[in-house]
Amino acid sequence: MITTKLPDIRTDFPLLCQTSGDLAPIAYLDNAATTQKPQVVIDAMHHFYLHNNANVHRGVYGLAVAATQAYEAVRDKVCRFLNAADRREIVFTKGTTESINLVAQSLGDEVLKPGDEVLITAMEHHSNLIPWQMLCKRIGARLRVIPMDDRGALKLENLSDLLNDRTRILAMVHISNSLGTINPVKKIIQKAREKGILVLVDGAQSVAHLPVDVQDLDCDFFVCSGHKLFGPTGVGVLYGKKSWLERMQPYQYGGEMIKTVSFERSEFADLPHKFEAGTPNIAGVVGLGAAIDYIETIGRPAICYYLANLAEYALHQLREIDGLTIVGNAPSRSCIFSFTMEGIHPHDVATILDQQGVAVRAGHHCTEPVMDFFGIPGTIRASFALYNIKDEVDRLVAGLREAQHIFS
Ligand code: ALA
Repeated sequence: MITTKLPDIRTDFPLLCQTSGDLAPIAYLDNAATTQKPQVVIDAMHHFYLHNNANVHRGVYGLAVAATQAYEAVRDKVCRFLNAADRREIVFTKGTTESINLVAQSLGDEVLKPGDEVLITAMEHHSNLIPWQMLCKRIGARLRVIPMDDRGALKLENLSDLLNDRTRILAMVHISNSLGTINPVKKIIQKAREKGILVLVDGAQSVAHLPVDVQDLDCDFFVCSGHKLFGPTGVGVLYGKKSWLERMQPYQYGGEMIKTVSFERSEFADLPHKFEAGTPNIAGVVGLGAAIDYIETIGRPAICYYLANLAEYALHQLREIDGLTIVGNAPSRSCIFSFTMEGIHPHDVATILDQQGVAVRAGHHCTEPVMDFFGIPGTIRASFALYNIKDEVDRLVAGLREAQHIFS
């Protein structure tokens, strides 16, 4: 049964229980930047280094075989988690940024010619903008942008014109990291499909909050990071349709990604190893597996429902504050809230909140074009995860009122 309460999970996260003197534990509201790690993830990595550490896909001794099995078992887990059709469609990377760069560099020459177009949205993180911008520059292609309105919702009326005969690639964010907008990616993908345009979805912010089914979305690529999913930093995922991954050139060359090598020529390994040159982040992958198990034990529908309720409460509380303007009011939104405070710089607000034990991010959030669109230097951003509670919303609101008091 889905309820507005999750089981008491805060104690699963050691950092959230830390106190110093008589100060309350931190109200950690910067989950769009990275999430905290449950003990089970920390333990899984610790256990790997204590008992299972060996390189993967190389040794024939028992320890190496066990390490390889642990690593490959997570590929199966991610495959199920994203509902990919085939485990070979799951490539481990350093994170979302590397996954996007991999696709832009390995696929670009395959599909783009001078005069072609790549389409992104007005709310992309720099990591889903610059790789395409550089690719377009290199090839002589054109980067185009789906605009947004003042609420931070995509303007889709002219989508058919933007998805034209020259468009080859559409790269779009699922949930905006700076506005909280949930984009109607499935609907947009359907339109791109009709025109044979390939689609990459940046799921960095969505994968921990929404159930993601890549077959149902019918995207060609889906990218995400382990550390926003309660897993470790330095590990991420590229899901790609097998037909595309097979056509693409390797992104990096070296050990692990070959079949045969001579001084004259090299033949590359089959999927997914063709894209995993060098020793991977084995312990990180093991930690990611533990994070997925953790999420699945709680259940994504329950997480979704809980966060929707928390978001509604937070939105209501923030709207009560005079002089606070929410930036990003799309009808479909997640639990990421960006806002400005009249007469107070976002960094000053974040500093005062920090003094109250409330951690938020302030700045442009790696989305400078979004800030330019709204004509602001940056915002204060509070982003929630499954372990946040209403009391932390109240602490945020109290801290914001304190900032107003100090600057009045
Ligand atoms: N992309 C991360 C953020 O939005 C780092 O904060």
